[in-house]
Amino acid sequence: MCGIVGAVAQRDVADILLEGLRRLEYRGYDSAGIAVVDGDQQLVRLRQVGKVQALADVMKNQLLPGGTGIAHTRWATHGEPSEANAHPHASSGHIYVVHNGIIENYQILRESLRERGYLFTSETDTEVIAHLVAFERESSDSLLEAVQRTVAQLEGAYGTVILDKREPERLVVARSGSPLVIGYGLGEHFVASDQLALLPVTRRFAFLEEGDIAEVTRFSVQIYDKTGAAVSREIHDAEMSFDAGDKGEYRHYMLKEIHEQPAAIQRTLEGRISQERIEVTAFGPQAAEFLSQIEHVQIIACGTSYHAGLVARYWLEQWAGVSCNVEIASEFRYRKSYVHPNSLFVTISQSGETADTLAALRLAKEMGYKTTLTLCNVSGSSLVRESDMAYMMRAGAEIGVASTKAFTVQLCGLMLLTGLIGRYNGMTTEQEAAMVDALHQLPNKLEQTLSMAVDIETLAEEFADRHHALFLGRGEQSAIAMEGALKLKEISYIHAEAYAAGELKHGPLALIDAHMPVIVVAPNNELLEKLKSNVEEVRARGGLMYVFADSQAAFASDATMRVLDVPHCDALIAPIVYTIPLQLLSYYVAVIKGTDVDQPRNLAKSVTVE
Ligand code: F6R
Repeated sequence: MCGIVGAVAQRDVADILLEGLRRLEYRGYDSAGIAVVDGDQQLVRLRQVGKVQALADVMKNQLLPGGTGIAHTRWATHGEPSEANAHPHASSGHIYVVHNGIIENYQILRESLRERGYLFTSETDTEVIAHLVAFERESSDSLLEAVQRTVAQLEGAYGTVILDKREPERLVVARSGSPLVIGYGLGEHFVASDQLALLPVTRRFAFLEEGDIAEVTRFSVQIYDKTGAAVSREIHDAEMSFDAGDKGEYRHYMLKEIHEQPAAIQRTLEGRISQERIEVTAFGPQAAEFLSQIEHVQIIACGTSYHAGLVARYWLEQWAGVSCNVEIASEFRYRKSYVHPNSLFVTISQSGETADTLAALRLAKEMGYKTTLTLCNVSGSSLVRESDMAYMMRAGAEIGVASTKAFTVQLCGLMLLTGLIGRYNGMTTEQEAAMVDALHQLPNKLEQTLSMAVDIETLAEEFADRHHALFLGRGEQSAIAMEGALKLKEISYIHAEAYAAGELKHGPLALIDAHMPVIVVAPNNELLEKLKSNVEEVRARGGLMYVFADSQAAFASDATMRVLDVPHCDALIAPIVYTIPLQLLSYYVAVIKGTDVDQPRNLAKSVTVE
């Protein structure tokens, strides 16, 4: 979603801001803008609809000198993508604002500001922040005070940076519900919605907390908490590598991230499993105490992360002997639900900032869940900071909007959780050792599975002119089928649905004809024979099938069925292994269709608004 970059330095900052925006492109956006001011209070603002490159092109013809500036990529919520709606927004000729999030009471504020004579030039909610700051600045001693008074009137979510061109030596930033980091340099400071944007200029970051407001100058960063008290926030060294945002030899980030999975899994398991045991410290120092008391697990997530939760439900109930519910965050947060005794509340999130998941966590705490745990890929993110325990995924930066390596790494983390909770609920040491052994095999198995890419690229040709597809699986694989369908629809725009194969005859069988490709995931497990019967049901109705099957599952290609051999693997890790061919299929179909693979239309990477 929207991205923010800001800088206060002695050197000119336009190029730093532009590079920051480029590094945030992955989040999804539809327009971009920049404002830079020099020591003589000369400010230039440029805004463009479309890609950051369009902004870069106009910047080539326009000098932007100045050491203080703000920049933004906008993902439209209020008002269409247009130059007038792009940030930075301005008021009174001197206040400039960039903002992520949604101001829910903007209509009321807009009306009262209009009555005070402020003229609105956009349809955005953000413009009220600019006018309110300008209004409050008239009767405040400082920009900081004006911003403090402004945010006290805002309802909703914001990460915002405010520049007053009459005070070019400072920026004021405020965070509530939308993340912001401060980057510390030598005699210069930076702000951004994501540290990735600032890695070319600094590796030292402090994460603002909810309600924080900070005044940032070249030489100082002063942070105030929601009560207005001066506070200090710990400065961390970035764990991400500088080139986390590079595609390397790959054509798309998504392909790079698909191929990174063996290494990402190696990393996530490192030091967390021994030869035969799972290390309880993988979930933090208090994990042994917390996990030993768990009788029920409630998992909350969105999208792909939700699918990881659905797989984990099978594992937790089968292996760990605890009941488990899995729910989409946006549903959970708006309904009255029952809290089982001794429940562990688990959020799964790549970004750690998904608005609905975060709101669900906050609700869970009010509801009295015993313990909260997050499986998350971004250290310092809101979910990590607000949960009792955190499993850091170590997947590395995921740039492609379609989640790939985060999903398989989440599954590894969830398997470790299963083994640990199981340890306190009758899972034997032999069972735990078998689980660990299967995990040790995983990186190698994924390498082998990735070699299916060549065949899948050819297969993808057959999908390019399809309008619909059906994905089928049984058991945990029904969730993998859902993930396969989500991947195909989000990047190739082909309508895809997934069903637990046993549900076929309860409705979806009516869709089957020679034009409906049916993709089946068929590992060699105890449900294989049942799945084969479902395959026959499709065949009998003239369906066209593509079966990703265990090499030992005895499927054979014929006129109505293409079988693609998946390397034989332990049934335990099969959900992770079978994810790979489905990711590759959607990737190659999207490439053939010529869609924007890494930034599919209408979607954003980190969904920080509900
Ligand atoms: C799909 C995808 C999304 C995310 C969802 C949750 O490929 O990426 O469905 O999984 O928006 O995001 P996180 O995991 O960051 O909470």
